[in-house]
Amino acid sequence: MVSLSLCYFAEDFLNNRMDRGDHPLMTPFISFEGLDGSGKTTQVRLLATFLENRGIPISVLREPGGTPLGEAIRSVLLSSRTVGLLPLSELLLYYAARNQNVRQNILPAQGQGKWILCDRFADASAAYQGYGRGIDLSLVKFLNSMVVQDNNPDLTLLIDINPAVALSRARKRNRQTTVDEGRFEQESLEFYQRVRQGYLQIARREPHRVHVLDGNQPIENIQEEIVRLISPLLP
Ligand code: TMP
Repeated sequence: MVSLSLCYFAEDFLNNRMDRGDHPLMTPFISFEGLDGSGKTTQVRLLATFLENRGIPISVLREPGGTPLGEAIRSVLLSSRTVGLLPLSELLLYYAARNQNVRQNILPAQGQGKWILCDRFADASAAYQGYGRGIDLSLVKFLNSMVVQDNNPDLTLLIDINPAVALSRARKRNRQTTVDEGRFEQESLEFYQRVRQGYLQIARREPHRVHVLDGNQPIENIQEEIVRLISPLLP
């Protein structure tokens, strides 16, 4: 199973890059997705260390954030003190931060031959604002066409986890930190269930790009699976 999807991914990676007229050796753009508390940030860190130990140049980014303006937008979006933010305003703020990230971080890093590891990207807007909040997905698609254009991730690692477990982990983490990023953890379990279904739907639609990893496994097993997935791309 894994080796078959591995082949697809490596082949698609090269084909897509050539279709776009990119240099076939251009470095991969990998995004990490999953519910809050799914463990994706830990996996970003572990893969970053793995690549750094091999001397591979990387750029580790996150969304929302990654640029000064993006980080300022992040604090508005995630603070539990932000009240009355309308769903469309929320979506536009995520895309404002993404526009800064694509133009100020992703494109320059690719130009410098760096691998990109991004903790969330556009799939999060489809899953959270589209499936979760109920915003028309065609609007998300339209914003993508303006902001992301064809700079989509080559590989997306979706860490799938039970929403109840994810929510309780995320709430516990927020109680233990001084950074106020708890606005989404106030959402209901039903919201998280819709977001999870949205992510799984995206994965079903794009099986060659999105790989679903079982987030209930131990951290080390998930990391091994990720390393197996990216190994055909190692120089
Ligand atoms: P995180 O950095 O812990 O992943 O938190 C980011 C939060 O923002 C998380 O609750 C998911 C949410 N989010 C969206 O709703 N839409 C988006 O487009 C992105 C990037 C994140």
